[in-house]
Amino acid sequence: MHFFHYKGDRLFAEEIPVEEIAEAVGTPCYIYSHRTLVRHYRAFDEAFKEVPHLICYSVKANSNIAILKVFVDEGSGLDIVSGGELYRALKAGVDPAKVVFSGVGKREEEIEYALNAGILMFNVESHQELLAIDRVAGRLGKKARIAIRVNPDVDPKTHPYISTGLKKNKFGIESERAIEEYLYARDNLKNLEIVGIDTHIGSQITQISPFVDALKRTRELIGHLKEEGIEIRYLDVGGGLGITYDREEPPHPSRYGQAVIEATRGLDLTLVFEPGRVMSGNAGILVTKVLYTKETSEKRFVIVDAAMNDLARPSLYNSYHAIKPVRLEEGREEIVADVVGPICETGDFFARDREIVRPEPGELLAIMSAGAYGFSMSSNYNSRPRAAEVLVRDDRWHLIRERESYEDLIRGETIPF
Ligand code: LLP
Repeated sequence: MHFFHYKGDRLFAEEIPVEEIAEAVGTPCYIYSHRTLVRHYRAFDEAFKEVPHLICYSVKANSNIAILKVFVDEGSGLDIVSGGELYRALKAGVDPAKVVFSGVGKREEEIEYALNAGILMFNVESHQELLAIDRVAGRLGKKARIAIRVNPDVDPKTHPYISTGLKKNKFGIESERAIEEYLYARDNLKNLEIVGIDTHIGSQITQISPFVDALKRTRELIGHLKEEGIEIRYLDVGGGLGITYDREEPPHPSRYGQAVIEATRGLDLTLVFEPGRVMSGNAGILVTKVLYTKETSEKRFVIVDAAMNDLARPSLYNSYHAIKPVRLEEGREEIVADVVGPICETGDFFARDREIVRPEPGELLAIMSAGAYGFSMSSNYNSRPRAAEVLVRDDRWHLIRERESYEDLIRGETIPF
């Protein structure tokens, strides 16, 4: 569900013609819809209204501070994985008591930064990390609230690069060992306060069952911990709910909500969620201009001015993004073509053998569902300045990130000797 639609022959972002923005800020540019972001947040929130819960939007999906602020204004907390994300979160005005810190490799200075900020809890992913957090907290004379991220060993049935809850993945602590770690922390690490348990099994999950399976295991663990006298106040279910890019039919947040509520019924705790993609994925498009078209004896190519440095998902995961013309033209032929960027890699494509309406050079295309893991994964590869970002709200739009300049590209570089 989103608010990018055609009015007549033109694609609009809410009440603004996409081409108006592209003309003003140039291409490639990301355009986000405020109304879509808010709608997604509220749908998720609504799904859990009958139970105590905290939504911590996953910053990595789209970390522009203007986007974070939209969620923060809705009452959202934030899920961070680095000091940089904490910095952004604080800039966006988040209540630090609604921040959870995930990730397998937190550095001591990042732990210190988060402790000083007063975050809700650290999701701890290894024994050594437990020791590190205890050490830093001790040095600062603070207590660190922690949850252990448990790897429940369930198959989320998604792309292998974004599965995280299998034993062979680097994430979390195996369920069998988690109890030992909790006991160790309770008995030996005096600067820690155990408050939660966490499980995140992967991303772009389009079925309910992996979530329910993971929760069953987590529930057992919560029971064991209770027997040991350890009370869990927060159950962090992670993120992972998928969206429709092509023909996927992920469960609506309300159905996901019912399943999670059912699987956790009777546990007297607050549910924490770390949704990323389901919040921002379909709330953003990447607008690009067609530079050239060309034909070889085997293929047709549409060469556009965006590239894998702007949106890496197709190159990295072979993932599908719908591509739509920003202006519909009557009577154009349909062609089968690869839509590719200017980067010097064969992997620099947005679509392969895709049926599209033949575009002309100079025309604009919208790469849909680019609001999550789009800009946030972009780079300067091939010394391409990163794209501009725009947020639309009703009939207004605002540049929320300037296009980078050539000077930005070499910022911090010096020539020695
Ligand atoms: N929590 C943790 C601990 C995570 O690692 C992630 C995503 C999330 C929450 C948010 O998951 P979501 O609700 O967005 O599925 N770059 C990939 C996705 C990587 C996901 C990484 N972790 C992509 O473009 O598909």
